Amino acid sequence: MKTEVIVVGAGGHAKVCIELLHAQGDKVAYCVGSPDSPDTCLGIPVLKSDDHLAALRQDGYEQAFIAIGSNSLRNKLARKVTEMGFRLVNAISPAAVVSPSALLGTGIAVMAGAVINAEATISDLCIINTGATIDHDCVIGAAAHIAPQCALAGNVQVGPLSFIGVGSKIIPEIHIGESVMVGAGSVVISNIGSATTVVGVPAKALHKI
Ligand SMILES: CC(C)(COP(=O)(O)OP(=O)(O)OC[C@H]1O[C@@H](n2cnc3c(N)ncnc32)[C@H](O)[C@@H]1OP(=O)(O)O)[C@@H](O)C(=O)NCCC(=O)NCCS
Repeated sequence: MKTEVIVVGAGGHAKVCIELLHAQGDKVAYCVGSPDSPDTCLGIPVLKSDDHLAALRQDGYEQAFIAIGSNSLRNKLARKVTEMGFRLVNAISPAAVVSPSALLGTGIAVMAGAVINAEATISDLCIINTGATIDHDCVIGAAAHIAPQCALAGNVQVGPLSFIGVGSKIIPEIHIGESVMVGAGSVVISNIGSATTVVGVPAKALHKI
């Protein structure tokens, strides 16, 4: 069995994730991209179709990381590679601060400067982006993305596949539903139902997704 990681994705988010994997001592063998991907991503050769995944698995690769920013696509590709028998690894920056009592899923990315505090739960496939802070007892649902410089106060719940835009703030105890989009720079002071886009200070509904 081969110990190198296969990174699915070959764009800007993949570059950050490759550097996270290298920083924690993992080697990346290939990226798997699409026909319009570059030939290499941070010097890693890019295979330009998902069709390569089956051959890589047969060749003995068993670890994968899904480096795709879109929550729904990341979720879909994760299902596909795990069904093929790949195991998803985490990519966690040595410059992140993660509480020993936090619960972490698999396939998650935690970028530099992120802080995850006591007894927070970060579910599978989440992205906790650069400098985001997740305070005590927060629960971040599967394949959600907390963008750079967000601040979530204690006991906030974010539903699966939701996206919290760059620089947003969320006050304590707030519940955010599934597939919610919180616009950049928003301040969320009330609960948000599923499949809604909210923006502004305080955040108000823009439209239903
Ligand atoms: C919220 C968001 C998704 C809306 O995108 P959209 O559906 O294409 O909406 P539009 O750009 O057409 O804007 C619709 C209206 O909302 C307003 N609006 C959009 N985003 C806003 C924001 N973040 N805060 C306040 N108002 C916002 C626009 O000014 C516009 O107002 P108008 O109708 O009065 O002119 C997007 O603007 C956004 O904030 N994305 C977050 C991106 C991000 O954080 N990326 C991080 C990557 S790591």
